[in-house]
Amino acid sequence: MRIDIITCVPAMFSGTIDQSILKRAADKGLAEIHVHDLRDFAINKHNQIDDYAFGGGAGMVLMIEPIDKCITKLKSERAYDEVIYMSPDGETLSQGVSNELSLKKNIILLCGHYKGVDERVREHLATREISIGDYVLTGGELAAAVVADSVIRLLPGVMNDETSALTDSFQDDLIAPPVYTRPAEYNNWKVPDVLTSGHQAKIEAWRFEQQVQRTKAKRPDLLKNPDSED
Ligand code: ADE
Repeated sequence: MRIDIITCVPAMFSGTIDQSILKRAADKGLAEIHVHDLRDFAINKHNQIDDYAFGGGAGMVLMIEPIDKCITKLKSERAYDEVIYMSPDGETLSQGVSNELSLKKNIILLCGHYKGVDERVREHLATREISIGDYVLTGGELAAAVVADSVIRLLPGVMNDETSALTDSFQDDLIAPPVYTRPAEYNNWKVPDVLTSGHQAKIEAWRFEQQVQRTKAKRPDLLKNPDSED
């Protein structure tokens, strides 16, 4: 999978996409992330990429031309499944959206900044808008990093244990069960006996029960019928 990120603050991606799982995915050749500086597509020698809004109002607006030039260049090199504009107005990111995006081959994540982007980006260039939650960030960069992380970790072979992405919270509308590691007792704080029993069927049953109980307690909205026992 390939993700192209268009931003006017490329530095915001150093220390995120070049670390951890995303780096491992890149090293294994499973995912490529390319960051493009919108200023490389500026309209003049002053490196201009934004301007005042027609009709007045506070805040600068990212111009259509640099964004269109950048997207047109990328599209001349390969086909893209989605051009996603990161925006607080978009559909909210969920595990389902991440699962869906992980099946795509090439996607563009466009980060807005300042007061937003010229509306013609949404009208003519973006195929989709995604928000990471009902709050406003300074720009789309952190949101794009969240999308890239949540999608790339789902690609087969990226995680060490192939099953671990499948047992994440939200994959089956239940949050994950608690996990413990050694020592089995610390400060008199004990790990539940069942986990050290060696009885795998009982462990699986306990984990599932914990998932249901925790979901009821913490995220009842995820359960279709929070009062039913199953
Ligand atoms: N840009 C600014 N705020 C955002 C949000 N909540 N999600 C995605 N992009 C954004």
